[in-house]
Amino acid sequence: MNVHKETVKQIQVRLLRWYKKHKRPLPWRTKKSPYRTFISEVMLQQTQIKTVIPYFERWMKVFPTVEKLAKAPIDRVLKLWEGLGYYTRARNLHRASQIIVEKHGGKIPSDYETLLSLPGIGRYTAGAVASIAFDQPVPLVDGNVARVFSRVFNIHKDILKPETQNELYAIAYQLVPQKNPGEFNQALMELGSLVCFPTMPSCRTCPVSSLCIAQRKGIQESLPIKSNSLKRKKVNLATAIVIHAKKLLIRKRPEKGIWAGLWELPSVAIQNGKKFEEKLSGELKETHGVKLKSTRALSPSLHRLTHLDVTIYPYLFKPASLPSLSPSNGERVRARGKWITKSDVKKFSFPVPYQKLIKHAFEIQKGDRQRSLTCPLFDHDAN
Ligand code: ADE
Repeated sequence: MNVHKETVKQIQVRLLRWYKKHKRPLPWRTKKSPYRTFISEVMLQQTQIKTVIPYFERWMKVFPTVEKLAKAPIDRVLKLWEGLGYYTRARNLHRASQIIVEKHGGKIPSDYETLLSLPGIGRYTAGAVASIAFDQPVPLVDGNVARVFSRVFNIHKDILKPETQNELYAIAYQLVPQKNPGEFNQALMELGSLVCFPTMPSCRTCPVSSLCIAQRKGIQESLPIKSNSLKRKKVNLATAIVIHAKKLLIRKRPEKGIWAGLWELPSVAIQNGKKFEEKLSGELKETHGVKLKSTRALSPSLHRLTHLDVTIYPYLFKPASLPSLSPSNGERVRARGKWITKSDVKKFSFPVPYQKLIKHAFEIQKGDRQRSLTCPLFDHDAN
């Protein structure tokens, strides 16, 4: 699509003027550096601004420079990322920081192609860093920008399709100005966040509403078109809470698959209708040498990941014969597992559902039997 020169100019002028007045004082804006832009843009992939802010502030305290990040052990990086989701982003950031130190003298590259070559950096993030941190006139399209464009230019095509994405990038390329490209790109995203809402957009306060074809036709709410072709897969996990001598059994998840390389309460994937606890206790005996006396089922909980609905079925286990924590038995436990105290929890990175369960587990083990029996998590006795 060719955007008329006059329209390009009007969109640039109006958006930049609007942004100057309405932009939010976000921490990566009020204090700017290429490193801060780089970290914030990776955190903002798939995650909302209000969620990112505290993570970003904490990150900058612990890893104020790319060198500090590059030198940190990956477990420390993952711990800081705990709860943000999409943990591959943290691993990629860590690897990217090492490449930046080794190959680029510790300076975030300013060139789009070099940025694109870093792990975890796609065309959106490369465009964001090049334009925001280095004033390069490079376009970007995220979900907000796609929504704005689909309405202003009346695009009735599935915005998740690669062809449509290319078309949106072609528009962004025509619009991005030589002067203040970073401000302009942020203005587009900010307009999507603050005005051009998915439902009930605030067209009356929109600086480009008179140029917006969808608004003129009154169809703004039916755009953009997003196919719902992604079928959500369902996964059931039976999860064991095993406490012995005030210590909780945890283990590292495999390096592939969901929550790769994070820590968990021992869990097994199960089919619906199969005997959850039996499979789980078999696994615990096999892998960690823990023999179990009795179990109790806690309420299951559902966790929605991008393409996956994970239901966790937790079971409280009491070891029948106490597993020795001596090195001989410890070998098996150590193969993948660890016994940790309450104060050890902070040393490991757990996906959010496990964080919640661990908190409950230690509340239960406090010995407050009365409370544990009436705890709302307890649905029914498994036996
Ligand atoms: N979303 C992602 N990055 C952003 C930015 N820099 N400004 C506004 N919204 C964003």
